[in-house]
Amino acid sequence: MIKNKPVIGIIPTYNITNEENDPYMDQAKFVTMYSKKIRESGGIPIGLLEQNLEEYIDICDGYVWPGGIQILRTFYPIIEDCIKKQKPLLGICLGMQAITTYFNLLEDREDSLEQDLETIYKENKEKNPYLVKIENPDMHFHIVTKEKESIESACHDVIFKKESTFYNIFESECFSIPSMHSFTLARIPNVLKIVGKSTDDIVEAVEYTENNCFILGIQGHLELLEDKRIFEWLIKRCNIKYQILVNKQYGLKEENDFEIKQYTSLYPNCIHDGNMEIGVFPSWIAFRDYVRENGYFIDVESAFRETELQKRLYEENIQKYGIEHANIFVARPRHSEHETGLAIDVTMRTKDEKWVIEFDPEFLECQQFLKENCSRFGFILRYPEHKEEITGYHYEPWHFRYIGNKKVAEYIMKNNLCLEEYYEKEKIFAKNKNL
Ligand code: DAL
Ligand code: ZN
Repeated sequence: MIKNKPVIGIIPTYNITNEENDPYMDQAKFVTMYSKKIRESGGIPIGLLEQNLEEYIDICDGYVWPGGIQILRTFYPIIEDCIKKQKPLLGICLGMQAITTYFNLLEDREDSLEQDLETIYKENKEKNPYLVKIENPDMHFHIVTKEKESIESACHDVIFKKESTFYNIFESECFSIPSMHSFTLARIPNVLKIVGKSTDDIVEAVEYTENNCFILGIQGHLELLEDKRIFEWLIKRCNIKYQILVNKQYGLKEENDFEIKQYTSLYPNCIHDGNMEIGVFPSWIAFRDYVRENGYFIDVESAFRETELQKRLYEENIQKYGIEHANIFVARPRHSEHETGLAIDVTMRTKDEKWVIEFDPEFLECQQFLKENCSRFGFILRYPEHKEEITGYHYEPWHFRYIGNKKVAEYIMKNNLCLEEYYEKEKIFAKNKNL
């Protein structure tokens, strides 16, 4: 099913003590403020349970790790998922401490690869705890009572670094946030950037943004504010955009929002820019390198196109060959996948950078390799042979489309489907029909 809204998994706050002493009381609690904010921001919140966590991971597009009283390490596969698939994660209060502890454990593990996280955590807990009690919390209300009226009094300023994601979200260096925590971070792992501090020098915000990951941690309780920009950011960061269908019937809409990152092809003489959507970038690099390691000289020939460029290409093709030809080779403006940055036309070259034409045996061999391996990196061949009636386009052996989900990509490629057939089979209805 194609989703119009991203699903956001919320890690539970555990009711460890069961202070009500009620044997029927659920062990896992979910704080409603988080789900309310996710809903208001356009996402679907779901509560995650430890059992069969991998099934939740399959359906979640992003996560919130909320505040609580104990770091539940059984949820660490979520952070791994975020790193692997560039899903966004927002850690608030204890959630930020959980993220930090996770990366600390990873760095410790570098010296002792065989040990699992659990063992290392236990060993390190005594001699090198990752969290320490705040010494003088009264100074900035890092601890307050739980009453609602105290939310305002619990606010203090957080100073964000200018190059941080938080700064971009709040459009300000200084933001007042309710802060209610009695522990702070004792050690910040090297991979995490400290991007926010309180005036008494407590670390208030961290980020992990390597390889297009979006893992953000903040000490203050942003879910208590009216302002929901952080949750809107979370929703926007979800990979749901990779499920878009763009073809003759489904055009791009104003609200389709793709973030284009600069990419320079290894070959200076390609037809268009190699720029692509930001989330495609790491998968493309991995795919490209894998293919090149296997002896084929490939890179991008044409990826993202501004609508103006698509328009020019379409009109030039009409001029040269007539409208019928143009319609099966070039998409109308606002109807090309290239305008999303999710499509990549691959070029194959000789060792000395000359184009290998598409019916050359060398090209055919390379194309076969691309076809067999693209899905492992989340790509599909978008306009396959013998599917012209359905796609509306002539066979394009060079045009690969990023769809993000490797399992879906594998299914499509293995069953020799085009994207339209897959959507039809799965009864998927893309929202962006007919412009
Ligand atoms: N050549 C493909 C169909 C495009 O122009 O997007
Ligand atoms: Zn193309």
